[in-house]
Amino acid sequence: ANIDNGTVALNIGIIGGTGIANPDILENQREKDVDTPYGKPSDKLICGTIGGVECALLARHGRGHTILPSDVNYRANVWAMKQEGCTHLLVTTACGSLREDIHPGDIAVLDQFIDRTHKRLQTFYDGTAAAPVGICHISMAEPFCTRTRKILYDSSKELGFGCRDTGTAVTIEGPRFSSKAESKLWRAWGGHIVNMTTVPEVVLANEVGLCYGAIALVTDYDSWRDDEESVSVDSVLKTFKENSIKAQKIFLKSIPKIAQQSWGETLKSNQELIKNNTLMPST
Ligand code: ADE
Repeated sequence: ANIDNGTVALNIGIIGGTGIANPDILENQREKDVDTPYGKPSDKLICGTIGGVECALLARHGRGHTILPSDVNYRANVWAMKQEGCTHLLVTTACGSLREDIHPGDIAVLDQFIDRTHKRLQTFYDGTAAAPVGICHISMAEPFCTRTRKILYDSSKELGFGCRDTGTAVTIEGPRFSSKAESKLWRAWGGHIVNMTTVPEVVLANEVGLCYGAIALVTDYDSWRDDEESVSVDSVLKTFKENSIKAQKIFLKSIPKIAQQSWGETLKSNQELIKNNTLMPST
């Protein structure tokens, strides 16, 4: 294990979204077929190291990209990472831009979300036998790990990529894209990008105390622009091919930086937040 400051064994979970499930970024690869109390994750974990740091990689939609955003077992995916000993969860997410100045090919390190999903399980605390005890009203004021975000942003800048250090994601249920009226509404609400997977993934990561950072890879202008062709699968995949390599480079640069810092206090305060927001059954 990688020992942070002599106190915490770091392990970095990576969830690759559309177009990003390239295991080549890992050295000493081995596949691991895991199960969780919430079912099977989207695929086998690919465990290995980046710059000597233990990592576990998972393809969010399965390696063949066969799982719909609504059907991803987010709970199994996040639990599998926690079970693996992960302290951090770094993810990519393909998204549409809701702003003129956020261009296809750009990157946003997310700091907020607006939840427009409606059929996804968002808690581990569901009263089933294997679930953690109590009811957890996890705080979502700051859903993304500030320290992890800074590392992802700094790495991205050093690599010379067009990148924002903040961004509000509007997460829609999908699989359809937004109508023009919806897209304009997301803009009026203050959204910067629109995607289909940040919720509930970030919520669940918080419920188990992981430091969660998300790189949003902009593939299109969604459908709000009157002067631009609306989003299509074609445009998403084309831009993605050109840009997925960026996310890999950011991870390769960020992970050794994460390992150089000490995370004991941050991880402890994550756990305290969970404890303080969990109601235990009264006796
Ligand atoms: N993923 C990539 N582009 C998207 C868009 N415009 N809306 C929702 N999810 C997306």
